[in-house]
Amino acid sequence: MVHEPSKILVLAIAIAAFMDGSQGANILGLFPSLSPSHLIIQMSAAKVLAEKGHNVTVVTALKPVITHKNITLIEVPLTKEESQFMSDSIGEMSKTDNSNMAVCLIRMMGQMEFMFRKNAETLMDDRVKDLYLNKDNKFDLVLSGFFMNDFQLGFARKVNAPVIVVATMAPNPMLNPLIGNPLEISYAGSNDVEKGKGATFMQRLVSYIISCVFGIFTLFSEKRNRNLYKEVFGDDPTMPEYSEMLKNTSMVFFASHAASEGPIRPNVPASIEIGGIQIKDKPDPLPQNIADFLGNATDGAILLTLGSNVKGSHIKPDTVIKMFNVLSKLKERVIWKWEDLEKTPGKSDNILYSKWLPQDDILAHPKIKLFINHAGKGGITESQYHGKPMLSLPVFGDQPGNAEDMVRSGFGLTINLLTLEEQPFQEAILEILSNPQYAQKVASFSSLYRDRPMTARESVVYWTEYVIRHHGAAHLQSPLVHMNFITANNIDIYVLFAVILVITTLIFKALVKFIYRRFTSKSKKEKIQ
Ligand SMILES: *[C@@H]1O[C@H](CO)[C@@H](O)[C@H](O)[C@H]1NC(C)=O
Ligand SMILES: *[C@@H]1O[C@H](CO)[C@@H](O)[C@H](O)[C@H]1NC(C)=O
Ligand SMILES: *[C@@H]1O[C@H](CO)[C@@H](O)[C@H](O)[C@H]1NC(C)=O
Ligand SMILES: *[C@@H]1O[C@H](CO)[C@@H](O)[C@H](O)[C@H]1NC(C)=O
Repeated sequence: MVHEPSKILVLAIAIAAFMDGSQGANILGLFPSLSPSHLIIQMSAAKVLAEKGHNVTVVTALKPVITHKNITLIEVPLTKEESQFMSDSIGEMSKTDNSNMAVCLIRMMGQMEFMFRKNAETLMDDRVKDLYLNKDNKFDLVLSGFFMNDFQLGFARKVNAPVIVVATMAPNPMLNPLIGNPLEISYAGSNDVEKGKGATFMQRLVSYIISCVFGIFTLFSEKRNRNLYKEVFGDDPTMPEYSEMLKNTSMVFFASHAASEGPIRPNVPASIEIGGIQIKDKPDPLPQNIADFLGNATDGAILLTLGSNVKGSHIKPDTVIKMFNVLSKLKERVIWKWEDLEKTPGKSDNILYSKWLPQDDILAHPKIKLFINHAGKGGITESQYHGKPMLSLPVFGDQPGNAEDMVRSGFGLTINLLTLEEQPFQEAILEILSNPQYAQKVASFSSLYRDRPMTARESVVYWTEYVIRHHGAAHLQSPLVHMNFITANNIDIYVLFAVILVITTLIFKALVKFIYRRFTSKSKKEKIQ
């Protein structure tokens, strides 16, 4: 009898938990990005939710590396020609000099045109359209993978569910307007500001100019988004205006962690940082050959991967030979990610080539002393998490910038892959291995990065279920979402004050003139008399 009330209580709690709607919810992930590194972050978020028991359906264009058996995948793959085009254009970029930002942007425009087209086509695929046409499908939440593809947010309206944007970057002028995150470019525009100081004139000027360039870029991007929105959802008269639809974003998940990475800036409550989501809390056991190879590495080991986008065959052959000449002479062991195992750069006892590598698990291994990478955001994040110093060989896109940030933080060095020579490559490796300052800096960053009230995974679960429980997060929305440039910056109030100032000045002037005239005419009259 004593047990009965507690049993009832347990039952009541169980029912309440079931009724609150966030248990076993139906979640739709739209991740049609053509960038494998974006997909890794987005799928990692989906996987955490599947592990929590939610029914997750995901739409992708690429085959994801990360998945889960409870995730229903709808793959809309590229055709053979399209895959070839992607591979060729990335290969082309890795062979040419991309240090000129403008040239690089123009070159990327062509590729981006293709990405947006593909994104729209994916949403118009019959199996994907069925997600809203078939009334048996009910979704409690949409996760929308971000790559300047705001038109995709319309899909959430189609399935009548709140939407969270999953971004693979830190808060920035492309994403901030969706949730009214303040721009604050006078000090939060870049990470260059020295600790304990304010932003200098030059830093502010550069941030400002960069934000203007972004602004122009955004104008182009917005025009394209409007067109794609019309193309994909235009047949439905109940769909809101594009600009209205944008105001319905519940939250943005940013793949960053400002408290350790900076810049320190204000974020609205709808901005949730999930930096490091792709990193497992505990590494999985390594494949036997890698475990042995590392286990026997008495002098430590180096991991070399140039990312999922740049395949080994895209690097100039003589660059590969130069790299091999240096690496094969080291006493440290090297694990080298290499696609074509028939044609490796050369044989050496200290080098293990592998087509596929569990990068995160390898970086967690205590024998790893250095990570040579292409400065992709994902790889740098993993290395920082595990506290491993880096040598970055950036190629294109955001990589040179990521590498510079990494070097400025003191976590390692960088060399341009396109102009790589044996001697500087060797010197950089030896410097990082022998000078403890790089390892120390990145180790102390690592302890900061991991020190959070909720881990990245816990944040994803909590805030996703929060939005599901409350059917959106309209109560968290910043008023800034509904304001334009003039009202957001109080420019109309400045104008009002200016007008008042001008009018009072004019009145005052007229008054002075009037009194002066009265006075002088009086004294004239007096003189005449
Ligand atoms: C998959 O979902 C089922 C039913 O919701 C659940 O029982 C099972 O534990 C899930 N599998 C994993 C690996 O999480
Ligand atoms: C999971 O969601 C899909 C898409 O809405 C649906 O077809 C399927 O029946 C759901 N599965 C479960 C177990 O609810
Ligand atoms: C590593 O050492 C183990 C014994 O400790 C040995 O069995 C294995 O073959 C070695 N592996 C390599 C790759 O040298
Ligand atoms: C967006 O729309 C959905 C459903 O139409 C609603 O539940 C949600 O609260 C809205 N979100 C915001 C931020 O307005």
